[in-house]
Amino acid sequence: MKIAVVRESHSETRVALVPEAVAKLVKAGHQVTVERRAGERSDFADDEYAEAGAAVGESGLASADVVVSVNPLDRSRVGLLRRGAATISFLPTGQALEHVAALRAARVTSFSLELVPRISRAQSMDALSSQALVAGYRGAVVASGLMRRFFPQNMTAAGTIQPAQVVVLGAGVAGLQAIATSRRLGAVVKAYDVRAAAAEEIRSMGAKAIELELETLEGSGGYAREMTEDRAAKQRELLTPFITAADVLITTAAVPGRQAPLLVTRSMVETMKAGSVVVDLAAESGGNVEGSSPGEVVQIGRAHVWGGQNVAGQMPGPASSLLAQNIVNLLTLAAGEDGSWAPDFDDEIIAGACVTHDGQIRHEPTRDALAEQGSPSGPAPEKSPSEEPAAEAPADQETAEQETDGADS
Ligand SMILES: NC(=O)c1ccc[n+]([C@@H]2O[C@H](COP(=O)([O-])OP(=O)(O)OC[C@H]3O[C@@H](n4cnc5c(N)ncnc54)[C@H](O)[C@@H]3O)[C@@H](O)[C@H]2O)c1
Repeated sequence: MKIAVVRESHSETRVALVPEAVAKLVKAGHQVTVERRAGERSDFADDEYAEAGAAVGESGLASADVVVSVNPLDRSRVGLLRRGAATISFLPTGQALEHVAALRAARVTSFSLELVPRISRAQSMDALSSQALVAGYRGAVVASGLMRRFFPQNMTAAGTIQPAQVVVLGAGVAGLQAIATSRRLGAVVKAYDVRAAAAEEIRSMGAKAIELELETLEGSGGYAREMTEDRAAKQRELLTPFITAADVLITTAAVPGRQAPLLVTRSMVETMKAGSVVVDLAAESGGNVEGSSPGEVVQIGRAHVWGGQNVAGQMPGPASSLLAQNIVNLLTLAAGEDGSWAPDFDDEIIAGACVTHDGQIRHEPTRDALAEQGSPSGPAPEKSPSEEPAAEAPADQETAEQETDGADS
């Protein structure tokens, strides 16, 4: 199959395929085109892609079977794809309805990495997990960097320095990684999650599980359920003493398809001691901590509150390497025996991750949401020959502002 890797626009630092992943695909007989400077912001040079066997230059959009990117392909470029071409990227369907409508109208087959089902067979394609792992690690490292104290205990001739007290809220993939990293740095860690199964996982990372006198909230597929406002208020009340005693608070809580739950109010942060640090990894999706702001460090009471923004992208090399491996595994699943692009829509993973195909929206919640907006839910009209893409996309459409992005906040 012909695979195209585009240079990301917006303030994205990651790239969908790294040279090592390209080499694997080329070895398997695929043709890979990499848009010039696609890997630059993840520290991968064009030469490395060329050495891996890629054709480096123009985007290759017009002839690609599959276009892979971190973020959805720019709307202006969707029309350059040939009919029946496919895209694989993060595609938050709920916030990208117009984009989905454009993909459908262009008769593009689109896959959303967020929608890859969380079943064991799909673990190697689970980009949410791979990026959450990076974010969890980064969150703990940022916290230790912002805090002007030791994480580990130090017993010296001049006296003993006590270890930092870290509290982690939300113990999914990111939270468990934040716990593991804080522990490796020597902190004493306590953590809380609404799922009953999380307590054992917290303990297995060497942390103490905070147990509150509250019902646990198991949803479907191993995820959390949303809290009622009553329960949320009770949870905040019961968690306050733990937060007051913490030097560092790291929050990672999420409920799929919803805004991040508010776990910590401003007045709770105001009880923290001087020099304490809060890292809110959910800041971009509404925030677990009242007053946190993505990409900024704000002062609340005596605490510094760091709001995460594209946190995985702050370690773009490793984040891209993991993401690329997820994408290679998905591409391999979608390849026919002869190596051609031949996704099997009877396969649970392919069917689950597909958003649009052949002029239809296959993801039901997105179809319903678009229908509510008054968009037609039937197949998109056939493209006339004059609408077929004629020209290659400009290789680099970025603005000067996008060039100077700074996700490392
Ligand atoms: N392929 C697989 O089978 C697979 C892959 C990844 C994750 N998982 C599992 O899915 C689950 C969720 O993982 P995730 O990291 O994607 O979760 P997530 O990003 O959706 O949420 C992060 C964590 O926040 C917790 N949370 C939600 N509301 C909370 C609240 N009010 N207070 C405290 N914590 C709250 C959730 O329980 C979750 O552990 C985990 O059990 C994980 O092991 C399974």
